[in-house]
Amino acid sequence: MNKKFPENFLWGASSSAFQIEGAWDEDGKGQTVADYNSFKRSHLQADSKVASDFYHRYKEDIALMKELGLKIYRFSISWARIIPDGDGKINKKGLEFYDDVINCLLEHDIIPFITLYHFDLPYALVEKYNGWESRECAFAFERYAKICFEAYGDRVKYWQVHNEQNLMIRVDERMNINESDAWKADKIRAQMDYHMFLAHALAVKACHDLVEDGKIGPAVSSTCTYPHTNKPEDVWAAKMNDWFKTNYCLDIHFTGEYPGYYMRYLKERNIVPVMEEADKDILKSAKMDYIALNYYRTLSATYLPADEKHPVGSRAFRGNEVDFDQYGYFRDEKNPYLNASEYGAQIDPMGLRIVLNEYYQRYRLPLIITENGLGCADVLTEDKKVHDDYRIEYLKGHIEACALAIEDGVELMGYSPWSVMDLLSSHQGFKKRYGFIYINREDHDIKELERIKKDSYYWYQKVIETNGESL
Ligand code: BG6
Repeated sequence: MNKKFPENFLWGASSSAFQIEGAWDEDGKGQTVADYNSFKRSHLQADSKVASDFYHRYKEDIALMKELGLKIYRFSISWARIIPDGDGKINKKGLEFYDDVINCLLEHDIIPFITLYHFDLPYALVEKYNGWESRECAFAFERYAKICFEAYGDRVKYWQVHNEQNLMIRVDERMNINESDAWKADKIRAQMDYHMFLAHALAVKACHDLVEDGKIGPAVSSTCTYPHTNKPEDVWAAKMNDWFKTNYCLDIHFTGEYPGYYMRYLKERNIVPVMEEADKDILKSAKMDYIALNYYRTLSATYLPADEKHPVGSRAFRGNEVDFDQYGYFRDEKNPYLNASEYGAQIDPMGLRIVLNEYYQRYRLPLIITENGLGCADVLTEDKKVHDDYRIEYLKGHIEACALAIEDGVELMGYSPWSVMDLLSSHQGFKKRYGFIYINREDHDIKELERIKKDSYYWYQKVIETNGESL
């Protein structure tokens, strides 16, 4: 196969603030929802207090990114570092930190690609009005976004609003939904989702007003669901699974309106959010410039009928909040044709080609992959090597799928896998690693936090150097 990537293809790697920075309360930073939840699990796994210690070692880490050959580095700003209580005083030290990181990246010829919000809402906003449940939160976010655009917009041209709104909203812990009644939880969820859409639109408009040549878009958690059989009900269930878990979000960003199939569900479940008339214009006029997608795996679905005990639209299992099943819609099944990672994600490079084609055909906007990767319990050998050939195989398959999608006519701007270095995984701490760079620490023993290049680091370096020809 002749892998042709465009000359200016943006080879990158990704991270997020609470998973990599550490220094959770240093230099005035406020606590976030991500910190709060990680502390609740401190006895089980690493928390966000030290993470990969990027806050103190960013110069060394950016030098390693340069050596890797990165063209872009996708990372997030911690809202609570800039505004510790979310909507009050600005923290100068927080602004300075990201200023230094951005300047250091630019000195190394690496383009900063910034996410404004990656799961880490300032906790003070939860205490004040339960975060996204309040309309106030959308305007607090707009103010925070404007502060970032004004501070960094002269040097940063690529912006992402929310990381994976469509996934985050499904996870009670990330949204701080503490409601045991399933219907009430879904009602709060729908209202929060709406306020996040409003915040997204406000940020898109502010970016276009304040950042010359600024490009902004969402980063969605992408899905591709196969019908488990060719029974028409299962085919419909597979479509619904994709539409409900991702496409509704892109459709709203794209058109400014809730699509009919989603509004029908909200009505059926009696959870239509409160919307203000004046929001319509804001939602409609905010035009995203590109779509970023995070892709890890595919799903397979059968139809799950509703019955008297299980009303249509209700979730079947609250245990798995991400790939949940929904009565009257879909149930996820194991795909017998795919292998799964040790943590259960069904590995499927072909699915990425499908997703890229689908999104491009549907929205005709440039695409970029801002997460893709394999989480594993890597082993550090005595001579300090990590032989992660399984990760190389995973990434190779997915990069080949990108090349094929480009041949199919998809306008793909870049590929930025997860993650640049090992970082705090949401439920497995430092046991589950994704990075090109090994961080020598365990969950409860932070050791020296030494940076060690894995085999995949050298492999990816070659891929970038040859613009994909070495695959
Ligand atoms: C993505 C998130 O959904 O998945 C990342 O944007 C996360 O923040 C990644 O780390 C991998 O998930 P996990 O649970 O393995 O950390």
